[in-house]
Amino acid sequence: MVILLFGPPGSGKGTQACEIVGLTQITAISTGDLLREEMSAGTELGLRAKGIMEAGGLVSDEIVNQMITGRISQPDCRDGFLLDGYPRTVAQARFLDSLLERGGFQTPTVFHLDVPPDVVMGRITARVQCPVCHRIYNTLYQPPKTAGICDFDDGKLFTRGDDTPATVRARLKAYCDVTDPVLDYYRQSGATFHRVDGTQAAELVFEEIAGMLQSAMAIQQ
Ligand code: AP5
Repeated sequence: MVILLFGPPGSGKGTQACEIVGLTQITAISTGDLLREEMSAGTELGLRAKGIMEAGGLVSDEIVNQMITGRISQPDCRDGFLLDGYPRTVAQARFLDSLLERGGFQTPTVFHLDVPPDVVMGRITARVQCPVCHRIYNTLYQPPKTAGICDFDDGKLFTRGDDTPATVRARLKAYCDVTDPVLDYYRQSGATFHRVDGTQAAELVFEEIAGMLQSAMAIQQ
């Protein structure tokens, strides 16, 4: 199974990805996390991406397509995977189609987490994340049991450098201008497309997604 998670910054893609992995056991891949790992490691790719990400822009198709090609060729993706934050341009979507076809993967199941901009701003500015397991918390809505510490591995929670109000506004603009058309691309393709009301509590969002996935998994068995 190949799952694609769409939605504006702060719509809950990373939060839902963790839950979907628990349900399906497939590997979750976040291009944002991969880029942040490159930045932390100080690689050439990370240095090229740093300024763009800090300004809220999109990293080039060439860089992210190359990263995804390498990542989905790993053994843990053989039976399927979930992509969080990719594809983000129509060119990336076309590139992914060709990768899936070459790899003999199924047509993707697409979830669009629909959340308006005014809601995401409040969520993002209260977000903290674990550097070890990438689990996501929110100091207002989903706080860890102990402030600043991951519930699962004691990782020291951090705030992302691109979670400032000005950068979030730029990220939202990039989403509206460039990523929205990708949703039309999938609505018109042979992919299974689901819109989910992402303004509900995270548990209810997952219940809705899980219901759809369980039906899809039952059909595939
Ligand atoms: P990326 O890391 O993908 O960021 P994003 O798409 O902006 O999304 P976020 O991670 O901010 O939000 P999310 O939807 O995962 O929400 P979360 O679950 O954390 O990309 C970062 C940058 O990398 C991009 O700007 C770009 O520069 C570059 N990049 C990445 N991929 C690229 C690509 N393909 N092409 C080009 N460039 C690329 O939730 C947010 C907060 O809300 C959390 O605190 C959470 O606890 C809380 N929350 C979640 N759900 C709920 C809920 N239902 N109710 C209340 N609170 C909730």
